[in-house]
Amino acid sequence: MRTHYCGQVTEEHLDTEVELCGWVHRRRDHGGVIFIDLRDREGLVQVVFDPDRAAVFATAERVRSEFVLRIRGRVRRRPAGTENAGLTTGQIEVLGHELEVLNTAKTPPFQLDEDTVGEDVRLRYRYVDLRRPDMLNRIRTRARVTSQLRGYLDSNGFLDIETPMLTRATPEGARDYLVPSRVHPGQFYALPQSPQLFKQLLMMAGMDRYYQIVRCFRDEDLRADRQPEFTQLDIETSFMNEEQIMQLMEGMIRTLFRDELGVELPDPFPRMTYQEAVDRFGIDRPDLRIPLELVEVSDLMAGVDFKVFAGPAQDPKGRVAAMRLPAGGELTRKEIDDYTKFVGRYGAKGLAYIKVNDPASGTEGLQSPILKFLTEEAIGGILQRTGAEAGDLIFFGADKAKIVNEALGALRVRLGHDRGLVEGEWQPLWVVDFPMFEYDDKDGRLYALHHPFTAPQVGTVEELRDGDPEKLLSRAYDMVLNGTEVGGGSIRIHRPDMQQAVLGLLGIDEQEAREKFGFLLEALDYGAPPHGGIAFGLDRLVMLMTGAGSIRDVMAFPKTQTASCLLTEAPSAVSEEQLRELSIRLRGAAIGQEASDTE
Ligand code: AMO
Ligand code: AMP
Repeated sequence: MRTHYCGQVTEEHLDTEVELCGWVHRRRDHGGVIFIDLRDREGLVQVVFDPDRAAVFATAERVRSEFVLRIRGRVRRRPAGTENAGLTTGQIEVLGHELEVLNTAKTPPFQLDEDTVGEDVRLRYRYVDLRRPDMLNRIRTRARVTSQLRGYLDSNGFLDIETPMLTRATPEGARDYLVPSRVHPGQFYALPQSPQLFKQLLMMAGMDRYYQIVRCFRDEDLRADRQPEFTQLDIETSFMNEEQIMQLMEGMIRTLFRDELGVELPDPFPRMTYQEAVDRFGIDRPDLRIPLELVEVSDLMAGVDFKVFAGPAQDPKGRVAAMRLPAGGELTRKEIDDYTKFVGRYGAKGLAYIKVNDPASGTEGLQSPILKFLTEEAIGGILQRTGAEAGDLIFFGADKAKIVNEALGALRVRLGHDRGLVEGEWQPLWVVDFPMFEYDDKDGRLYALHHPFTAPQVGTVEELRDGDPEKLLSRAYDMVLNGTEVGGGSIRIHRPDMQQAVLGLLGIDEQEAREKFGFLLEALDYGAPPHGGIAFGLDRLVMLMTGAGSIRDVMAFPKTQTASCLLTEAPSAVSEEQLRELSIRLRGAAIGQEASDTE
């Protein structure tokens, strides 16, 4: 139907005839001449209709925004002074000889160049939203990224292998999406939270190097970088250790950034232990572009006359930390109050601070409601450890370590952005030496920090049993980019006794283990090679690469905060007949209950 894409007609085509198809981006009437900006995937071109061709002109008068047209016309140079340097096609225009309306369109629910459109309207009319150049470009980038990642893995000997969607639960820590079975009444498949167990089985099958760009499903609380269904670049290898895997994987990301963005990422990526990340940044995915750090002051506060600080300082699970904000003395009372409210969201009960006017003159040079409680020695120690200078502000967090870390860790990122402190564009790193387990006070049991198939940093079951499980480290690694966890993986357990022992520590006894992962345990008995891998969050990676604010903006058809699709109105009720076929009867209270979309 066409000879060219609209966006690709240039001076090269002057005085030739072209046929184009596309959407009416804009139509302007100019004293007897009609201009139509015709748009397709590749861009815009200006088409001119003059009244000399009466029939064509009459049709042009009837077209409206987003009508679908086919035109035939001659390419000519735009009159001097009317060129548009911002367009590839800006030097030329097409004089329309023929015009066919392939389809009409209702007035679109929003203008394509309007940027205050609510997200619910955009999602409801996603096919219109995706016509916007920003959206289109992100989707194109995503397609190029997947193609490049495939290229790298293909050329490194990885096999692209599909794994089932209708399967058993794989524990990645979220709730499962379940699918009822018709032929097995009362039984359910689970959609995979990840292909973790299948990719391990593929290593046991001798596939050696596997990858898959695969949809994963997790029924969890959603955020800007979390969706109920999302895409992983999932990878597994045999006979490689963590060093080799990390090298190969950062090579892939470096190549991707070089080819796609022209960005040189560091070689090698810096490494940091989990402990160091949490101590210095309060979080296991630090944004290293922000030059603020948490400083330990628990030891200085253990003896002070201020219970808010002394309590956590003396508690083995508590922490008192300080964070210096350069030039923070400028903050107004209201700003400090806002930050106090902000840390409150993370459970912090307050946000003590000291204004540093002149650090050289000790207490005299400081301003703070808590000074009277602190000893000279504590104050001296704080100033020295934070390296405070005149004009700075020092914030404090005191509570259970978890709360202090989360609150000050989040405050650090917030301040970094609010105060324009973000340095440099790209800061990747590996976080390593994660704890194997995390103790949950509420449930009184251990949880796997990564997943239960991650190998510990001990060789034998005896060593595992002798050690303190809470101090045990795992062979897991996360790739972090600008404060986002883009990928995570580990070396896996490949010995049945070790796998049983780890499941045992997690409170999963042999019978439950057999029931849930019997097939994996059995496969470990039939010649399992040492293996390990990683999975990248493809949506997150593309979000960062395109500068999008949310992974929803790099997915063609994402879901809302309450996991619904506004376009298809999924999920939805089903007929009584379908339910009967599935042997399902709804509980009364579930009927007519609606989730609400609140952030
Ligand atoms: P993990 O659970 O860390 O590991 O997931 C790997 C990566 O997937 C991305 N991700 C998500 N992206 C969008 N929405 C979500 N809800 C979501 N959840 C996770 C993150 C994360 O780093 N089987 C293991 C991997 C392995 O051990 O090889 C796994 O799934 O970027
Ligand atoms: P108060 O004695 O409760 O008035 O608190 C004195 C100062 O300490 C105020 O600036 C509070 O914001 C702050 N504060 C209170 N609790 C904490 C805490 N757990 N961590 C850090 N600062 C706190």
